[in-house]
Amino acid sequence: MQASPVLLALALALVTPSLSAERKCVLTGSWMNDLGSNMTISTVNSRGEFSGSYLTAVTATNNKIKISPLQGSQQYRNQLNHPTFGFTVNWSFSDSITVFTGQCFVDKDGKEILKTMWLLRGTVDELDDDWKATRVGVNTFIRLPLRRE
Ligand code: BTN
Repeated sequence: MQASPVLLALALALVTPSLSAERKCVLTGSWMNDLGSNMTISTVNSRGEFSGSYLTAVTATNNKIKISPLQGSQQYRNQLNHPTFGFTVNWSFSDSITVFTGQCFVDKDGKEILKTMWLLRGTVDELDDDWKATRVGVNTFIRLPLRRE
């Protein structure tokens, strides 16, 4: 007896776990966020550490935007499929520092996505202005396709 294609597809759907549950999210590569900023993350080493570069699309300063270095680490305990991570961007054209923390997910279409939250510390001239020195926000990053040289 031959199983119909519909029955076969149904059986496959039942036994195959969804893409998002299975696929591992990998930080290495190039990403773009909802503001149009780009970042590239190097290979993640065996301790979960990585470095990279960040080109922001926006700035709170009047300075000319330049590529800035980033350094971070991801959780490597339990070989997580959707690891948590954090990184710091030390802006090369401004006196600020931004720290990002987030989690690397795979969405229902199998696409990797980074959900992050950030704190940007700017400089103020005096202690009394400390209250206004920190901004907070969220950014979502999607993976950029590999560039062919
Ligand atoms: C500065 O303006 O002092 C440095 C650039 C800050 C850019 C911020 S960091 C959080 C947010 N996400 C981005 O991609 N860019 C802005």
